[in-house]
Amino acid sequence: MTLLDDHVVLITGAGSGLGLGLARHFNEQGAKLAVFEISEPKVAGLREEFGDDVLVLQGDVTQVADLEAARQAVLERYGRVDALVGAQGIFDGMVPLMEVPVDQVEKVFDEVMHVDVLGYILSARIFFEDFAKTNGAIVFTSSTAAYAADGGGLFYTAAKGAVRSVINQLAFEFRRKVRVSGVAPSGIAGSQLQGPAALGLQDQKQSDIPADAFENNFLKLTLVNSLPTPEEYAPLYAYLASRTNTTTIGQTIIADQGLFNRNVITPTEG
Ligand SMILES: NC(=O)c1ccc[n+]([C@@H]2O[C@H](COP(=O)([O-])OP(=O)(O)OC[C@H]3O[C@@H](n4cnc5c(N)ncnc54)[C@H](O)[C@@H]3O)[C@@H](O)[C@H]2O)c1
Repeated sequence: MTLLDDHVVLITGAGSGLGLGLARHFNEQGAKLAVFEISEPKVAGLREEFGDDVLVLQGDVTQVADLEAARQAVLERYGRVDALVGAQGIFDGMVPLMEVPVDQVEKVFDEVMHVDVLGYILSARIFFEDFAKTNGAIVFTSSTAAYAADGGGLFYTAAKGAVRSVINQLAFEFRRKVRVSGVAPSGIAGSQLQGPAALGLQDQKQSDIPADAFENNFLKLTLVNSLPTPEEYAPLYAYLASRTNTTTIGQTIIADQGLFNRNVITPTEG
């Protein structure tokens, strides 16, 4: 018996990084799994990796029609759905506000907020009735950027702060029917988090900004020896998504490897 035996789980943004690691772990833990991803090459990779074990769906989490079609497909295959884990996201390239041309501000805002906030709201809205029938759960992904500066640029920071507040409010509105919680990771090894097209940064990865600097800084500031893999975050998500979790509702767990547990006196390295 595992935490996720008998749970039907949908993971959005499962094509790489965190969502892919969660999919691998949830699959091993016996969940009946559906994964949803916008990128066609990543969808092909998911199909190749999981074969018929997992329902792989291509779609855009900002599009109602894509989410409705995903809901239909999940219900057709499994007959119910117990948990939604939101792991999609895009980054903002860490570009300071004053370096964004003024006529681009609204476009960058719209793009980042649509994927990083609206996508979570729409998926909760569309799947609520199903989770309400199964004493289900929603687990969303915020970030340490929601709690302190310099975890992203302004747009990403604002979006991740909004996700944290969405978790608060949805947990209240869905009370006694759906348990809503979240995780705020700091760094994730193997992330392919892309920048916004509105700044021409859609091919830039967060992990390349600048190459290796993120990992080096992370190791200097946190209390661990390595950047955690998606799979290292997975047991926490599995617990929150499972019916075992009856205690942690409306909260976002800061999974920061000790980043915020610091004063300014002793360097951990050097
Ligand atoms: N990388 C980090 O250091 C870090 C830290 C804290 C939080 N996070 C958050 O973790 C989550 C996962 O990020 P990651 O680092 O694994 O990045 P990633 O890019 O590897 O994974 C995100 C996935 O979401 C998909 N996606 C993007 N837009 C989508 C859309 N409109 N519809 C459906 N899928 C879409 C991407 O194609 C990708 O496969 C994100 O919410 C991110 O903000 C990342």
